[in-house]
Amino acid sequence: MEIKKVGVIGLGIMGSGIAQISAEAGYVTFGLEINLEYLNKGMKTIEDSLNRGVAKGKYERSYRDEVMGRLKGTTDIKELKDCDLIIEAIVENLGLKRELFGKLDAICKRETIFATNTSSFSIAELASYTTRPEKFVGMHFFNPAQVMKLLEIVQSIVVSKESIDAVYRFARSIKKEPILVKDYHGFVVNILLAPYFVEAVRLLEQGIAGVSDIDQAMKLGCGYPMGPFTLLDMAGLDTLASALDTLYEAYKDKKYAAPLLMKKMVQLGYLGRKTGKGFYDYSKNPPEPTNLNI
Ligand code: CAA
Repeated sequence: MEIKKVGVIGLGIMGSGIAQISAEAGYVTFGLEINLEYLNKGMKTIEDSLNRGVAKGKYERSYRDEVMGRLKGTTDIKELKDCDLIIEAIVENLGLKRELFGKLDAICKRETIFATNTSSFSIAELASYTTRPEKFVGMHFFNPAQVMKLLEIVQSIVVSKESIDAVYRFARSIKKEPILVKDYHGFVVNILLAPYFVEAVRLLEQGIAGVSDIDQAMKLGCGYPMGPFTLLDMAGLDTLASALDTLYEAYKDKKYAAPLLMKKMVQLGYLGRKTGKGFYDYSKNPPEPTNLNI
């Protein structure tokens, strides 16, 4: 099947990036949010990102305007009924996802492929909330979605070859390098990345080294573009803590258990860049490690 119209649900950090690259690739793209405040915020994030490209001389204003013209922000789920592909990028909450996919299943045409950007839930479980599990695929993007080339395409035990093929073609058209992975909580990247985050926070909790030294260690010692705490702050501590909880729940292995420090920071709203404070304090320029009594 040919994908022409795309819906992206949730215009947070990941969804706004996914909607942007979809519209940039020429697709009419609907971005759905739960209320006007979140919708305006998400659309502004996309516009700001495109404006940065104009300021850097990567493209003209007319390009930005064309891309914005293909993006239709809405708070009305019914507007997505004719989409050929819908990518869900809402918070990692099973109850909310169940409710959303139930509604989408009732509204969308039978041909619509549903995809989820979940980083840790089982695709089979999410697919079971619909009456079309053979058209339900995992599409796991990486942050920042506009930049990171990888796309994990996750195959449940019942998904059809046609759906996987269509999503593969879509992935190439938005200039991603897809890899095919089985429906195994955490897929490839998060299975490797989750214990790395956990161990970094444990080193900090035990006073082995400080935030910026641990970051420096992985940048200069291993050539990583950013250290674990900068990455945790960029991805959002709430998102990563709930991904860890899901992995721990699935495998009951301590290596995935979210450290207490991370949980406390989430409780206090120290979620990273998006709230201005996480392991670093972004009110300082350049950001400095947040003063925490550990
Ligand atoms: N949004 C959009 N574009 C961004 C961006 C953002 N948040 N951050 C950087 N960019 C763009 C810049 O505009 C720039 O583009 P051009 O080259 O076209 O000008 C390019 O990325 C490089 O940016 P910078 O020069 O400012 O900085 P950099 O060279 O340090 O790169 C980075 C920034 C790409 C984020 C790099 O530091 C990096 O690769 N970091 C690691 C990211 C990573 O590991 N992501 C995976 C997170 S885990 C995940 O997402 C999975 C999960 O389920 C939790």
